[in-house]
Amino acid sequence: MDKIIVRGGKKLTGTIFSSGSKNAGLPIMAASILAEGKYILRNVPDITDIQTMIKLLRIIGAEVVFNKNELTIINKGFSRYEAPYDLVKTMRASIYVLGPLLARFGKAKVSFPGGCALGARPINLHLEGLQKLGTTIEIKHGYIYAYTDKLKGGKIFFEKKSVGATANILMASVLAQGITTIENASCEPEITSLAHFLNKMGAKIKGIGTEVLTIQGVKTLHSIDTTLISDRIETATFLLSAAITNGNITIKNCSPVHLGFVLDKIKEIGFSLQISKDTISITDKGEKKPVEISTNPYPGFPTDLQPPFAALLSTIKGKSIIYENIFSDRVMYISELQRLGADIKLNGNQIIIKGGNKLTGAPLIASDIRAAAALIIAALASNGKTEISRVYHLDRGYERLEEKLAKLGADIERVKD
Ligand code: EPZ
Repeated sequence: MDKIIVRGGKKLTGTIFSSGSKNAGLPIMAASILAEGKYILRNVPDITDIQTMIKLLRIIGAEVVFNKNELTIINKGFSRYEAPYDLVKTMRASIYVLGPLLARFGKAKVSFPGGCALGARPINLHLEGLQKLGTTIEIKHGYIYAYTDKLKGGKIFFEKKSVGATANILMASVLAQGITTIENASCEPEITSLAHFLNKMGAKIKGIGTEVLTIQGVKTLHSIDTTLISDRIETATFLLSAAITNGNITIKNCSPVHLGFVLDKIKEIGFSLQISKDTISITDKGEKKPVEISTNPYPGFPTDLQPPFAALLSTIKGKSIIYENIFSDRVMYISELQRLGADIKLNGNQIIIKGGNKLTGAPLIASDIRAAAALIIAALASNGKTEISRVYHLDRGYERLEEKLAKLGADIERVKD
C-alpha cells in the first residue's frame, strides 16, 4: 500500500487545473444503462471510484474504454442485472445502478451497501422511493432483490435531502409510465448535471436545480456525449492547501458558481479571492480570524469540506466551530489532527477547534476520501515530516493530488510502503 510523505513549511504558488467531478460522473455512468448506444464522457477523473463503476458496467454487460480522461461506454443490451458485493463494499455509489436497471429491465440484484468511515449509510429513501414507483423489494443474503412489471409514476417526498436517493429515483422515473414528482429533492450541481444529461438523452424533467422535480416518463431514450462539470470539492481542496501555507495559486477550469458559501467562508477567514467564470485565484491578506460553519445540503456548506476546513482552522488563531449536520460520524480524522498537535475536539455534532498551535509532523492514518485530504492539508503546514498511510482512500476521489500539489511547490511525494 502506498504512503504519502509531506515535509511542511513550503508556500504554494502557481497555476493548477481542476479535474472533472467524481460525484457528477458516477450517476451519469449509471444512467448509460437506460438506453443502448455509444456514450462518450469527457473530463472524467482517473480515480478508483470511476474504475470501480467501469468494472460494474462491464459486469452488467457494457463495453467500456477509458483513456486520457475520456470514457467511451457502449451499451448493446445487458446480460446481467447485478452489482456484486465485492464491488459494492468498496464503493456505495454502486447503488446507482438500481434505478436504471429497474427502469430498463424491471429487475436488479444489488448488494446491500455496508457502512463506512462516515457511519451508517442507510438507503431507506432509495428503496421507499422505488417502492412508490411500483417496485417489489426483498432483502436476502445481503442483497437487494428488486422487481417490477413496469415502473409507474408516483409522488415522492423525501423527509431528508439525499443526493443518492434523488439520483436513483430520477433515473428510475424517466422511463416510468406517467408523471413522477420528487419533493425535497437534492439540488447539488451533480444532480443538476445528471438531470440535464437525462434530458439530453430524451427524458422530460422539469424543475431542474430546484427542490421539486417533475418527470414525465417517456418510452425510450438514446445515448449521448457529454463533458463532466468540474469537481467543486477538489477545487476547494486546492484553495485550502494554498491558504494553509499562506500561498497564492490560481485554479483554472473550475466552477466558482458551485462554491458560493465556501468562497464566502474563505474570505471571512481572511484570504482574498479573485473570481471569474472558470478561474479562482487566492492570495494571503494577512490578518486571519476564526469562523463558525454549519454543513447543510446544497447550496449550504458541503459536508465533504468539513474535514479539510477543520485542518485549515487548526492553524487560525482563536476558536472556530463546525456543526456537522449531515454525517455525524465524519470525525475519525480528528484524532489524527490531534497527533499533529491541533487543539480540536468533538462535542456532539460540534467540532471545536482552538486554532493557532504550531503543528509538527507525525505518522497518520487516512480513514476516508476527505479525511485523507484534510491530513495532507494539515501536513503542508506542519513542521517536519508527516507520513500518511492508507492513501487508497485518497485515490478513490482525487486524481494524483500529491503530484498536483508538488507542482505548486509542496514538498510531497508518494512512496511504496
Ligand atoms: C453523496 O453521498 C456524495 N457521494 C457524498 O460525497 C456527499 O458527502 C453526500 O452526497 C452529501 O449529501 C456521491 O455523490 C457518490 P446522501 P450520499 O444520501 O448520496 C441520509 C465524497 O466524499 N440518508 O445525500 O450517500 C444519510 O445518512 C462523498 O465524495 C438516509 O437517511 O449522501 C445522510 O445523513 C462522501 N437514507 C444524509 O441522508 C437514505 O436512504 C445525506 O446523505 C439516504 C441517505
